[in-house]
Amino acid sequence: MTVTEQDRATARRVLQDCMANGLSPEVTVARLALCLKPDIQAEELKNIAMEMGSHTPHQRGWLEEIATLLSCQADRFDNLRAAAACVIHERLSEETHEMTVARLACGFDKAAAISPAASVQLSSLGEEERLSAATAEITSWLEQQGIIGPDKTILDIGCGIGRFEYALCSRVRHIVGIDISCGMLAIARRRCAGLSNVELRQTSGLDLGEFEVASFDAILALDCFPYLVLAGIAEQHFSEMARVLRPAGKAAILNYSYRMSTALDACDIRRLAHMCAMDVIVDGEKPFRRWDGTAFLVRRVGGT
Ligand SMILES: C[S@@+](CC[C@H](N)C(=O)[O-])C[C@H]1O[C@@H](n2cnc3c(N)ncnc32)[C@H](O)[C@@H]1O
Repeated sequence: MTVTEQDRATARRVLQDCMANGLSPEVTVARLALCLKPDIQAEELKNIAMEMGSHTPHQRGWLEEIATLLSCQADRFDNLRAAAACVIHERLSEETHEMTVARLACGFDKAAAISPAASVQLSSLGEEERLSAATAEITSWLEQQGIIGPDKTILDIGCGIGRFEYALCSRVRHIVGIDISCGMLAIARRRCAGLSNVELRQTSGLDLGEFEVASFDAILALDCFPYLVLAGIAEQHFSEMARVLRPAGKAAILNYSYRMSTALDACDIRRLAHMCAMDVIVDGEKPFRRWDGTAFLVRRVGGT
């Protein structure tokens, strides 16, 4: 298939945006996988990166790193693109909340079958090792925020392949991971087999009705809220989180939506937090190097 000048222009624009925003080569390759049609091959993208105008030595090195990732990992790049294409990040017309959730569950089943690591974080480039490094970075941020501890019972909404259950189980009392995708959960169950304080459940994805009032010390929603926003059930989930959290319990929302506006997300989170008697403690920070997620932390009022 012919690669059009428009495809090339899109590739250059993605590269320029990522460079201007100081994103890592891995995150940039993931963005290229998301934004470009499959007609444009990794080799061609590598050439586009290398042909970009004159730059500082740092930018030159950054472009070379991207070119290396693309040329060493052409097959992986195709896989990445295939995994990304499984989940459509748009609400289709006439879709009800239930239909969107069911479609997303199917999409994540398919993505997990192609690449478990890419299905939860594209910038892992489908590699478990890169994913573990990113997981460790996020885990240490959670620890700094006082979310994990040996006395804590945690709910993880949209637990995916169970990477946080595996990483956190030795540092918390109990962790419950819920997800709508049986394909993701099957991988999580294999990963967490034999871990006695990890519980994994398939959920309807529509609410947290299966949990009692004030049953968790903390909630994780790591790259899951964008799908709740997409399905039109974010507001419902926010008040559900407030209901199941103990007083002073915290919820970490890493990425609220994919609208590409931290200001808009921060505004929505402040409104929802206010509505649910919660305080916003972290308001749209970018604390990670290995992943471009935006962090929000809210706390239920009350307690000490
Ligand atoms: C990008 S993955 C992130 C997975 C995991 N939190 C991680 O970071 O490794 C998003 C996950 O959210 C799940 N998900 C999407 N909508 C959901 C919903 N309404 N309720 C629970 N999980 C949902 C998907 O099935 C998928 O496993």
